Amino acid sequence: MREDATEMNSVLNETFAALDSLQSSHPFELKLTETGQVTSVGRGVARVNGLKDARSEELLRFPGNQLGMAFNLDANEIGVILLDQNDSLAAGDEVRRTHRVLDVPVGNSLIGRVVDPVGRALDGLGPVQTQQRRPCEQDAAPIMNRDPVTVPLQTGIKVIDALIPIGRGQRELIVGDRQTGKTAIAIDTILNQTDKDVICIYCAIGQRNTAIAKTIADLRERGALEYSVVVVAEGDSSPGMQFVAPYAATTIGEYFMEQGKDVLVVYDDLTVHARAYRELSLLLRRPPGREAFPGDIFYLHSRLLERSTHLNQQHGGGSLTALPIAETEAQNVSAYIPTNLISITDGQIYLSPDLFQKGILPAVDVGRSVSRVGGKTQLAAYRSVSGDLRLSYSQFEELEAFSRFSSRLDEETRATLERGRRVREIFKQPQYQPLSVAEQIAVLVATTSGLLDSLEMASLQSTEIAIRQSMINHLSDLCERIEAGEKLTAEDRQLIIDAAQKTL
Ligand SMILES: Nc1ncnc2c1ncn2[C@@H]1O[C@H](COP(=O)(O)OP(=O)(O)OP(=O)(O)O)[C@@H](O)[C@H]1O
Ligand SMILES: [Mg+2]
Repeated sequence: MREDATEMNSVLNETFAALDSLQSSHPFELKLTETGQVTSVGRGVARVNGLKDARSEELLRFPGNQLGMAFNLDANEIGVILLDQNDSLAAGDEVRRTHRVLDVPVGNSLIGRVVDPVGRALDGLGPVQTQQRRPCEQDAAPIMNRDPVTVPLQTGIKVIDALIPIGRGQRELIVGDRQTGKTAIAIDTILNQTDKDVICIYCAIGQRNTAIAKTIADLRERGALEYSVVVVAEGDSSPGMQFVAPYAATTIGEYFMEQGKDVLVVYDDLTVHARAYRELSLLLRRPPGREAFPGDIFYLHSRLLERSTHLNQQHGGGSLTALPIAETEAQNVSAYIPTNLISITDGQIYLSPDLFQKGILPAVDVGRSVSRVGGKTQLAAYRSVSGDLRLSYSQFEELEAFSRFSSRLDEETRATLERGRRVREIFKQPQYQPLSVAEQIAVLVATTSGLLDSLEMASLQSTEIAIRQSMINHLSDLCERIEAGEKLTAEDRQLIIDAAQKTL
């Protein structure tokens, strides 16, 4: 009997020793995961119960590593926005909490890459290697950390830089019907940032894949991808992805801004973003408001665009300029989303389908466009010409409508009309050809001085090219002074006019 007991003891001791050594080689840790269950699945959304403590906007993990974001927190149920498109999800599937919110990788290695809103590479160049991730949803910089907008952001497009100038840290809406050249303006602005130390982020929301591929090819061919990041939520991605895309793009931009850099973010476009949000909200039974958009869409867009700013020197002095794009239907700028965006931003560039059809490209309707801060930041050289230009152009637009009905015009009216037609002709600019400040000034000075008034309209295009060339070839030190922001003196003007005269 006693022998049995001692044998048992030794067996037990051996067992305990084995367990001890196992534990020291594999430390066990108790891990608590909260799991819930999918109760129903819809297009892009799911309802989940059993996750009592889940927080608003927390990421939830579904089978197959599929992610969703807690959106509606009701007493018994959570409405979830699905981020991945997956048909295999079904009622009864298990859901886990992740205890973190949606984030994106940020860092220098993103430059030159095409990624989706959660930072997965879409360009086939392998995963993006970054050290840091940041939440997509962030608070905007407080007022005390901000400085006024003082530095211009040159678009390289004459009509915009002269009449609707944009400053670094400003939010300028590009608004117009479909196919009026909205994307073209944004892309030209990105192309114009070559060697200007501005990091550009192009965020494509819900566009056709062919359109996105073309934009990326445009940027790559022209060397602009070297200082750009492209964030893509394509048209067939889930509405959840389209919804989070602009936040991810802004977070990526903010990282660079906080390093003291100047950043430009293009949101192409926010009407599609609003539609994705409407779809999700309706599916999750949030109450619809005007045009069936949920009531907080204004808050959503203003919170997003409030994140663009110019930080003061104590905070690095970086800036984030936003160029949101909005699409109108039948030129109706008083539709809900366009009016919201117009009131949130610091001005708008309105593109008119009528001008587009007449071949006046870029189709900027100067009378309906405005920049509420840019004028103060405009380079000094522009100020000496832009006042004149704006006046003669708006007079011309008024007169042109009237003058159709009368054949006999007095001399002064005729001169205003002739000048206006020339200004409009001079503002025409092909795509992918942003111009330097000095080239623009040369053309604008020649126009406002009346040098072109006696020329045939048909010869204006070639004259314009010749004037720009002569400026670059013969007045290179004046070019440098203009780019440095110096004022245009009377002698400088004369130099430009003389050089232009020789080309006629
Ligand atoms: N300045 C320009 N000169 C010549 N062609 C232009 C110019 N701007 C735009 N285009 C052409 O006009 C067409 C429409 O331009 P774009 O795609 O930029 O318009 P959009 O308003 O962004 O269209 P969508 O509504 O489809 O997004 C394109 O084929 C583009 O090449
Ligand atoms: Mg477009």
